[in-house]
Amino acid sequence: MLIARTVAELRQHLSAYKKPAFVPTMGNLHEGHLSLMRMAKAQGDISVASIFVNRLQFLPGEDFASYPRTFDSDCDKLRSVGCDLLFAPDETELYPQPQSFKVLPDPALADILEGQFRPGFFTGVCTVVLKLFHCVFAHSGGVAVFGQKDFQQLLILRRMMSQLAMPIDIVPGATTRAPDGLALSSRNGYLSAEERAEAVQLSMALKSLAASARAEAGSGRFDVAAAEAAAMAGLRERGWLPDYITLRHPSDLSPVTVVGPEPLVVLGAARLGKTRLIDNLEI
Ligand code: PAF
Repeated sequence: MLIARTVAELRQHLSAYKKPAFVPTMGNLHEGHLSLMRMAKAQGDISVASIFVNRLQFLPGEDFASYPRTFDSDCDKLRSVGCDLLFAPDETELYPQPQSFKVLPDPALADILEGQFRPGFFTGVCTVVLKLFHCVFAHSGGVAVFGQKDFQQLLILRRMMSQLAMPIDIVPGATTRAPDGLALSSRNGYLSAEERAEAVQLSMALKSLAASARAEAGSGRFDVAAAEAAAMAGLRERGWLPDYITLRHPSDLSPVTVVGPEPLVVLGAARLGKTRLIDNLEI
């Protein structure tokens, strides 16, 4: 695996390829990232990962400084799945000047759910992803693989590709889960043993809301707001601080009022101790 530390090195390596397949990450890699990498290997003529902890997507007071940086073990993991090229710029390389030009995503998608609780988060994500895409896809179009665990991020990035006419296919990778059902996330490492045992309750709350919505689909009896409130109250009773648990239309994340046969997604975010977890389930 080649490691490019600068944009110039990266572009030089990539100039010989027609279809890079790219997985952007913030490092601290786990099996979820590796499954995206395996997908990328099957999609392009060179597989590329990036590791960059992007200051722009952290709010003041969030975990930017303490976010786990595990470069050497990340490189071992990437090598184990056959990653061809790693782009690992430092901050002065990617943001040589303060990044004052930013991407302002559609507020209808980016100021709700995660964006409501983390204002500016998706501006930070879109800005760095656009910049990474300009670095990686300078000579070509290509493919980029993103995990479905970050459902809203995936939707917003797809919209960005289409509205900015970028020749890059965004391919979704299924959420990788621990045997008990907890979605894998770099932030799971913040959980104590006791919290780790409890953490699966978020996905269980989503599953149970999805199951009751599915059972009542088309009956006209399903009270969405009451079911969402009950799911949040259930978590609160167990000591969680939920930000949201909500049933949405997957195409635009608009709220669901009546449950019918169409596809839906249940999304949730909640804090357990100091750790904020997110998850979602498509119905
Ligand atoms: O999903 C992530 O890890 C980050 O938001 C991303 C896409 C790598 C941008 O920093």
